[in-house]
Amino acid sequence: MRIAISTGGGDAPGLNAVIRAAVLSALDRGWHVLGIKRGYMGLLGEDEVIPLSRDDVRGIAHLGGTILRTTNRGNPFNYPVRQPDGSFIEVDRTDELMDNARNLGIEALITIGGDGSLAIAQKLHEKGMRLVGVPKTIDNDVSGTVTTFGFDTAVATAIDAIDKLHTTAQSHDRVIVMEVMGRDSGFIALHSGVAGNAHAILIPEINWDIDKVCQHIMHRDALGKKFAIVVVAEGARFEGEVGVMGESMPGQAIRVGGVADRIARAIQIKTGKECRSLVLGHLQRGGMPTGYDRLLATRFGGAATEAVANKKWGHMVALQTPHIVPIPIVEALKDHKTVDQSHDTVRTARRIGISFGD
Ligand code: F6P
Repeated sequence: MRIAISTGGGDAPGLNAVIRAAVLSALDRGWHVLGIKRGYMGLLGEDEVIPLSRDDVRGIAHLGGTILRTTNRGNPFNYPVRQPDGSFIEVDRTDELMDNARNLGIEALITIGGDGSLAIAQKLHEKGMRLVGVPKTIDNDVSGTVTTFGFDTAVATAIDAIDKLHTTAQSHDRVIVMEVMGRDSGFIALHSGVAGNAHAILIPEINWDIDKVCQHIMHRDALGKKFAIVVVAEGARFEGEVGVMGESMPGQAIRVGGVADRIARAIQIKTGKECRSLVLGHLQRGGMPTGYDRLLATRFGGAATEAVANKKWGHMVALQTPHIVPIPIVEALKDHKTVDQSHDTVRTARRIGISFGD
């Protein structure tokens, strides 16, 4: 058996642990393993396809990033091709991709990615590619799995930042608004905000009002608590709009962000308190995976190999505590996982006085 592994979309801490576990468990079965570089680029002649041995994956489980590299601009169904006049058109290059996979003798693919990459995987599966998916995203917004690896590390990074912001905000009697990732789902903001003792948490799932946020801050102020920390998910709407930051490259989704600065300015105007903002950004995607993420990623990698052995084509591995099970990728793609407002974490936050601005 000859299998290949690819990592697509934005990176997440734990990718290398998945690769390592998938390679070791495949070699254990006597299979050959190839690594496709930079998403599907390696299968489109835009990057390499390399053999992966035990030596190649030795000592990588604790490393952030991905030894196979990644891209969020390489959708083979809508591949951006530059025209002589500098404009771009989108071209379907999947026939070429399938031919190259066949010529390399690839019998099955383990594709590690978030909702975008899983949607591509589903379409490739419908085209005849034998593949198994592994869900990945720091945003934790993939349905069908209790959580994705990378999320716990991102939350730990955000909590560390909130802890640091507390001391400086307190020294200066300031309001600091910290923006975390989460374009459609507010899990990172919710979990880090509750665990890090934020005073307000603003997420896409809960309609919030800047005046309510200001009231909460001024209520604290009246009680002598002169500083406040607001954690906001990048996808939270301000005056009904999602913030867009900078230009996207061809083939890339819009770059969401900038809401923290708008909120900080508004709070300063409305309350007269000194405000600052911070975008935590890609710090959340980098660094060593936590023990939880390393373990989950390792379990996912081993389960993906088993799913290949069981010919679970078009399935992805999912955590359904305490088990890792294969579920159809289409099932996971049906809904975007979002924060359920009746969830205990939201209710706990309300009980301990955290405002959602609603
Ligand atoms: O991994 C998903 C995500 O973290 C989103 O929350 C964020 O909007 C996006 O990645 C940013 O990705 P990039 O800057 O790599 O395009």
